[in-house]
Amino acid sequence: MAEWTPNSWRGFPIQQVPDYPDLDHLAAVESQIASCPPLVFVGEAQRLKRDLAAVVEGRAFLLQGGDCAESFAEFSPNNIRDTFGVLLQMAVVLTFGAAMPIVKVGRLAGQFAKPRSAPTETIDGVELPSYRGDMVNAMEFEAAARRPDPERLLQVYHQSAATLNLLRAFAQGGFANLEDVHRWTRGFVQESPMGERFMQVSERIGEAIEFMRACGITPESTRQLRETEFYTSHEALLLGYEQAMTRVDTITDDGGPYSTSAHMLWIGDRTRQLDGAHVEYMRGIHNPIGMKCGPSLPADDLLRLIEVLNPDNTPGRLTLIARMGSDQVRDKLAPLVRAVKAAGAQVVWSCDPMHGNTVKSSTGYKTRPVDRILDEVRGFFEVHEAEGTYAGGVHFEMTGQDVTECLGGGQAITEVGLADRYHTHCDPRLNASQALELAFLIADMLKTRRSGASLALAEAS
Ligand code: TRP
Ligand code: MN
Repeated sequence: MAEWTPNSWRGFPIQQVPDYPDLDHLAAVESQIASCPPLVFVGEAQRLKRDLAAVVEGRAFLLQGGDCAESFAEFSPNNIRDTFGVLLQMAVVLTFGAAMPIVKVGRLAGQFAKPRSAPTETIDGVELPSYRGDMVNAMEFEAAARRPDPERLLQVYHQSAATLNLLRAFAQGGFANLEDVHRWTRGFVQESPMGERFMQVSERIGEAIEFMRACGITPESTRQLRETEFYTSHEALLLGYEQAMTRVDTITDDGGPYSTSAHMLWIGDRTRQLDGAHVEYMRGIHNPIGMKCGPSLPADDLLRLIEVLNPDNTPGRLTLIARMGSDQVRDKLAPLVRAVKAAGAQVVWSCDPMHGNTVKSSTGYKTRPVDRILDEVRGFFEVHEAEGTYAGGVHFEMTGQDVTECLGGGQAITEVGLADRYHTHCDPRLNASQALELAFLIADMLKTRRSGASLALAEAS
């Protein structure tokens, strides 16, 4: 293979690039970003890689979640607090269900760019560039708004820095206190229409906490109960930005290069061409990376991609994020899992049950039925059970806000109800209750797996 450099991707065919009208302006902004401080420290990305290696070995479980797309308009401390809070609640419930550490990774502090199915959009005979996320242009259907503006890269950098700063403060400063997080969950269970189903688990977590307190292990006495480790991730779509954030670290052993824009980056299902620019860039950075695997990915291609992206077969380096759709997961995932296992490739298998389950409601909204989301997760677990492999994690688009974007759940959001609070800048997200409900249901699956019982049978009974 030819030599890798942070800009070698520029010599490869590339998908999903915005059509910037002023390339000098873009280059000037990118060089400005290249002189800004890194957002994450290389040592943190290495620790995430080690945590993910524990997932590969079946000793931990990955929870990755957050916005489909962050936005400039919805940038607020309360939004960050609420999304992070729900992720923590989910993590506690999953920790209990799995009886294992949960590796917590946000789609946060950098998730601003969106791949689109078409480069332009036509409304009433007017054709404009598609909205590609706040990192590129603005959503309003007007020529000026849709023109890609490089200054947005800088705004993303600064918003990511501020978001990350708050997340770090929350994770280490007392907000992640286990007793507090559990108290929020208890409140949710008391009010939720599905609460009865979750009451038992919630009470048992509460008892475990009281027992620990009686033994003198409290958040006041014990850091592990007061603090958590939280990592960030986003889709590495705009390679100019990632290149500008690529740094070699001189302090740690494996100095990189790393993209210091986030701890973990992933390659989308639309940009994973073997001979493409995105794979070229990602193969050279040392971060833990993810790759989305959709139903159109043949097993042979997957094996070749694994060879390029993780040639040393390092556990924790590569997370395969399956996004098949509930109707395809059982058929399409099994051959991939089998091929990867036969090749001896060390990967985390995670399940994105969001992107393969997007439908249009009769009321005109892009939405996702919670039942299908849950069914894809269940199918994902069944496939791994049947193949003798480890279902290692889940990947959600969710928010801490009480939006109405996905159908169903305990609040039974209907097609008509979607109109109430449909706020997403891109794909429909689980709201706080839907996300936590799913965590409880997945915790059940994790518990069934732990007990050695068959998931398929547990479901049938
Ligand atoms: N430190 C442990 C962990 O992060 C336990 C913990 C403390 C925790 N606060 C938490 C777990 C909040 C989940 C959510 O796993
Ligand atoms: Mn999305």
